[in-house]
Amino acid sequence: MKIFTTKKEISDYFNRKPVKVIGFVPTMGALHKGHLGLIELAKQQSTQVVCSIFVNPTQFNDPKDLEKYPRPITEDIRRLEEVNCDILFNPQVTEMYADNEKWHFDMGDLEHLLEGKFRPGHYQGVTQVVNKLFNIVKPDVAFFGQKDYQQFMVISKMVEALEMPVKLVMCPIEREPDGLAMSSRNIHLTPYDREHSLILSKTLNWVKENFDINQIDTLQQQAAQMISNEPGVELEYFEIADGKTLHPATPASESVVALVAARVGKTRLIDNVLID
Ligand code: PAF
Repeated sequence: MKIFTTKKEISDYFNRKPVKVIGFVPTMGALHKGHLGLIELAKQQSTQVVCSIFVNPTQFNDPKDLEKYPRPITEDIRRLEEVNCDILFNPQVTEMYADNEKWHFDMGDLEHLLEGKFRPGHYQGVTQVVNKLFNIVKPDVAFFGQKDYQQFMVISKMVEALEMPVKLVMCPIEREPDGLAMSSRNIHLTPYDREHSLILSKTLNWVKENFDINQIDTLQQQAAQMISNEPGVELEYFEIADGKTLHPATPASESVVALVAARVGKTRLIDNVLID
């Protein structure tokens, strides 16, 4: 695997060696099976696969969260080599950002709903870095996990608005055998947190199994109650939303997604399930 840390190295490489289909998996590292699944899918659909590892400071609204974000780079490189990733892009913050750089992308109310409400500015940071990464890597196809469903919608909106020539692929959530959605943050869960974190996936499945479009409010309230009753778990939101707008689902919704965010101990987790 080639490892590049500068924009110039990547562009020199692809100028020397034009590639038919560049597949791209942007990550913040601390790679787990979910990321590796994205790389494997990218390998099937591309000629060369680039993975980026960059803990993007502009998408963290809590400096403590940024500081404690795991950065096991040696282990990440080993995992990428195991799945035959072709290129790792692993830049420093100074390579990605000039001083006092400003960015604002108008993503409408997607910015203020759900995650946007609890993590103000988060999706501005995400679009800022993904826009930069797309301009550096110039991928034909980029792969993202469904776990951050809203992030996928926000990036799709940016790609469409800026007419970026990249196809986006959303890959299903990878789960532990007991249902917990894989996340780089799971390593912060204590054994007690880990046990109680299962209420998130259990509740999402319960909503999926009992789904009735005419009972959305009742289902949502019951789901919220189930999670709030769980020791050590503090619910931020549970929303049964329209899959296209993320506004509350209605009988006219063509697709429905149930989304949850909660603090389990000191760790913030998100998860979701597509209902139909
Ligand atoms: O989903 C992530 O890991 C990050 O938000 C992303 C897309 C790599 C941007 O920093």
